[in-house]
Amino acid sequence: MDKNLKIFVAGHRGLVGSALVRNLESKGYKNIIKKTSSELDLTDTLKVFEFFETEKPDWVFLAAAKVGGIHANSTYPVDFMLTNLKIQNNVIEASHKFGVKKLMFLGSSCIYPKNAPQPMKEECLLTSELEPTNEPYALAKISGICLCDAYNRQYGTDFMAVMPCNLYGISDSYHNENGHVLPMFIRRFHEAKLEGKKEVTIWGSGTPRREFMISDDLADACVFLMETKTAKEVGKFVNVGTGVDLTIMELAQMVAKTVGWEGEIKLDPTKPDGTMKKMVDVTRLKNLGWEAKITLEEGLKIAYDDFLNNENTRLN
Ligand SMILES: NC(=O)c1ccc[n+]([C@@H]2O[C@H](COP(=O)([O-])OP(=O)(O)OC[C@H]3O[C@@H](n4cnc5c(N)ncnc54)[C@H](OP(=O)(O)O)[C@@H]3O)[C@@H](O)[C@H]2O)c1
Repeated sequence: MDKNLKIFVAGHRGLVGSALVRNLESKGYKNIIKKTSSELDLTDTLKVFEFFETEKPDWVFLAAAKVGGIHANSTYPVDFMLTNLKIQNNVIEASHKFGVKKLMFLGSSCIYPKNAPQPMKEECLLTSELEPTNEPYALAKISGICLCDAYNRQYGTDFMAVMPCNLYGISDSYHNENGHVLPMFIRRFHEAKLEGKKEVTIWGSGTPRREFMISDDLADACVFLMETKTAKEVGKFVNVGTGVDLTIMELAQMVAKTVGWEGEIKLDPTKPDGTMKKMVDVTRLKNLGWEAKITLEEGLKIAYDDFLNNENTRLN
């Protein structure tokens, strides 16, 4: 690959964007454009068009988005729908208008129907109802996939889309409002250790099964696909996951071990469990030639080290 390609990583300070930058830099890419949201608000069409006209990037990774847990999604549904639609419409349209050679759109496995058969295959998109709490966010993401596909069909562009499972890792948010289970476990068990707590109670029965991937593995998959595949080969979009799941209780025990807290994990079965199993089918990704490399045990150590190094900022 030409390591001088001009690559715009939109959302480079986020969990996914920062992992993309690390991966690209480790592979020798030298010409990466990074803009914070205050330097370039991607919801502002004119500013986005001006930026693309001036910079003319060769590749774009679209990892800028308004992201949050169930609480934030339920409280601010307009923001989750409108901000994401604006960001992706602007960046995708500008990418076509100003000759971007390849674009990768980051979606999320929450786009799948609420009762999708497990593990969730790409083909089950739009086959039944979505989870009502994140419908506005999911519809925005589904629109992004469709828009990339529409540009490919109408204009012959090379815009691909990936749907990752739950992510964690360096530069994650540990704010209570994040609501993602893995970073919340890291924070709670770490605090339990500092406060000398003997027990921590987690929500639900502990039996639902979930899949977690470190953002560095996702970034590796994204860069692999951009370097070696076309949108035609990838299909409308491709799932990115580890192919391995575990129960919430098993996850809690692994996080507690990583953090070094030895108390008792209690369950509160009066609290909701959510879907009993949620994982993506990674057959298409494997057939394209990529598999996850970092185990959950290794990944948790990386994430916890980053949490410790950045404890104050990550909680804000
Ligand atoms: N986290 C997960 O578990 C997960 C799982 C599956 C898929 N994904 C997908 O991966 C993508 C990235 O998620 P993430 O977890 O990395 O999110 P994140 O950590 O919250 O980062 C999002 C980034 O988007 C940027 N951004 C937000 N609004 C912007 C705007 N108006 N203009 C310019 N930049 C803006 C922010 O930039 P500043 O920092 O400069 O404000 C931030 O760095 C999303 O599409 C998400 O759906 C995430």
